[in-house]
Amino acid sequence: MTMSKNVFYKIFFLIITCTAVQGNLWSQNINLVPRPLDMQTTGKETFTITPKTVISVENDEQKTIAEYFSSLFILPGGFAPSIVVNGNADIVFQTEQTMKPESYSLQVKKNGILIKAADSSGFFYAVQTLRLTLPAQIENRVARQDTNWTIPAMEISDGPRFSYRGLMLDVSRYFLPKEEVLKIIDCMALLKLNKFHFHLTDDNGWRIEIKKYPRLTEVGAWRVNRENFAFPDRRNPSPEESTPIGGYYTQEQMKEIIAYAQQRQIEIIPEIDMPAHSNAALAAYPEYACPVVKKFIGVLPGLGGSNADIIYCAGNDKTFEFLQGIIDEVAALFPSQYIHIGGDEAWKTHWKECPLCQARIKKEQLQNEEDLQGYFMQRISKYIQEVKGKKVMGWDELTNSKLPEGVTIFGWQGFGNAALKAAAQGHPFVMTPARLLYLIRYQGPQWFEPLTYFGNNTLKDVYTYEPIQENWDPSYANLLMGIQGSMWTEFCSTPRDVTYQIFPRLAAVAEVAWSVRGSKDWPSFLKSLDNYLNHLDAKGIIYAKSMYNIQHKVVPADNKLKVKLECERPDVEIRYTLDGTEPIGTSPIYNQDLLISDNVLLQAATFVNGKQKGKKLILPLQWNKATAKKLQGLPKEAEILLNGVHGSLKQTDFEWYTGEMSKPISFTIDLLKSEKISKCAVGCITNYGMGVHKPRKMKVEISEDNQSFTTIGERNYTDTEIFKEGNFIEELKIEVQNATARYVRFTLETPGNCPTDHVRPGQASRIYLDEVIIK
Ligand code: ACM
Ligand code: ZN
Repeated sequence: MTMSKNVFYKIFFLIITCTAVQGNLWSQNINLVPRPLDMQTTGKETFTITPKTVISVENDEQKTIAEYFSSLFILPGGFAPSIVVNGNADIVFQTEQTMKPESYSLQVKKNGILIKAADSSGFFYAVQTLRLTLPAQIENRVARQDTNWTIPAMEISDGPRFSYRGLMLDVSRYFLPKEEVLKIIDCMALLKLNKFHFHLTDDNGWRIEIKKYPRLTEVGAWRVNRENFAFPDRRNPSPEESTPIGGYYTQEQMKEIIAYAQQRQIEIIPEIDMPAHSNAALAAYPEYACPVVKKFIGVLPGLGGSNADIIYCAGNDKTFEFLQGIIDEVAALFPSQYIHIGGDEAWKTHWKECPLCQARIKKEQLQNEEDLQGYFMQRISKYIQEVKGKKVMGWDELTNSKLPEGVTIFGWQGFGNAALKAAAQGHPFVMTPARLLYLIRYQGPQWFEPLTYFGNNTLKDVYTYEPIQENWDPSYANLLMGIQGSMWTEFCSTPRDVTYQIFPRLAAVAEVAWSVRGSKDWPSFLKSLDNYLNHLDAKGIIYAKSMYNIQHKVVPADNKLKVKLECERPDVEIRYTLDGTEPIGTSPIYNQDLLISDNVLLQAATFVNGKQKGKKLILPLQWNKATAKKLQGLPKEAEILLNGVHGSLKQTDFEWYTGEMSKPISFTIDLLKSEKISKCAVGCITNYGMGVHKPRKMKVEISEDNQSFTTIGERNYTDTEIFKEGNFIEELKIEVQNATARYVRFTLETPGNCPTDHVRPGQASRIYLDEVIIK
């Protein structure tokens, strides 16, 4: 039988195509986060780890890592590969001195695995790569007989972009039990993160046993119960109240955490925050506060208001003796070469009035209180460096004065640029900009998120962060040690609240910290992330699925409402309904802006293969005479006042408009034709703890020509009406009879400073406005 040339080529190409698809399939199976420097899949072969698998090592260091690898199989597999020294084996550890620190190469073939590295970290990261390519059941704590521990054949050559790849965890605001800390550390290891910045002290609790000063934990680790209130709403304690909330790590427990982290190549960097964020310490030892502080100092359950101004006295030598005593024990306990000494948000209210602090300024010939903080940080740094032989780290406020010698600065405020002032003086620095890497912020559309502070840092925001900016002096790049995700725990009250905020964004932090610049590819990152999340599922770690939720944006457009729906994941379908029925896997797909001109209940959700992934968006679009009309006197973003959508209880959800601090908000609505008017209203929100309150005064005027206006109503509110506690929405309205106008002007005055009995005494308040209603 002969085959025509044509048919031959067809079959030939079919074979080629099948092989290519096969290859693709295999590479699809290798989904690694962080993305390796270089990765090749080598055909469809696999290597399977069984009870007969033998690992060969060259020395004790490698043996420790091989034992760790072997131990991964004990619970889920019911076996542990054996380890030999320089023997015949299936998995071979081999030192390659020429490799860079933390780098490794990995060859997986059907008859074995070869791992090369120059140091323990390199071998450990090779093992983490294997862990991520194994079935996720490797994380299970129960034996699964049906699992094949199979790894696809591949060749990887890998190493990190930055040497500092960190997570900061604040255990002061919420005390996370030791076991939960360990779980987070293990999830870090899987991402090849290597620094755990442990924020152990703050106003809200002292979390590390210091034997010389037992009251730090007897008193400083415990606070009053205000758990029924959101953190910013919590009132300060009074002396007679009991303090049941808190906890601390004993030095023995901390040693366990340190050892667990060390086994995973993670350095624990302790932070002892000073001179501020010290109410917990000063509650225990008030003698180290400035003597001008006369009020009761307690461990704060919340922001603290003016009590947050209570800081260590810089004029009292005994303060330094006290802190040195703490540092003695911290330096001995933590093997890290670093101690972080904070230095953030030190309000100088009491230093300005304190005779001891003022005498210090005089004696040391300092310019002002800012330089007094410089003196403070330098004096402590000198002790850490010269007496303890360790290095010092601090927040970027240290750049406000002379920097301690050699200090590493953490850029955090805004985009972290204050750290560049330190870089300009030759200091190493770490970037953890609040606007991108603070994991306390909202990670997705706020309507679906638990309450927290400020705006959004979504998974994609974190992923797209490029630390080295075009406008930097070239010398800065060499001083940048790396980046850190920072998890502040004001809004956490269970371990799952903490992991929900950390994951999955920590995987994006790892990607930015590890993977080479220019290697980003959002869809492929998501695939790799899904693999990592399978491992978290198998470990029972709670993480956010916010990346599947829908962000809506509704804006007036030619007398209609234009609705935009967005999901951060491009691999989902957004499906919606407008008729009140549930969106399901066969509902219409959203693929362009919707134009709405009626009262409609829009419901939408994301789907993959017909299965709902995200939470359901319920978006009522409610029309009144002002909806989608013309707004004058405010910037374009204020059109949300006329978009038919009411804001949620979060004033930062992009449905609320706020003006400049302490300035009235005034705007005019052009109804486009003369209309009968019986009611003019605007929504306002109260968020007591954040100082968001209702206006002092509302005035509504109408006009036919936009020139001469007639007042149709005014409302004035008293302090009692304005500064109510809680989080709620009110409609401020004015009703009239027989009014007709084309133009309606609203003027709303801000209420001024919060009163003395407020949780923010004397601080300026803000107003946030939402939907305008004209009927
Ligand atoms: C900080 O967020 N206060 C460092
Ligand atoms: Zn003082």
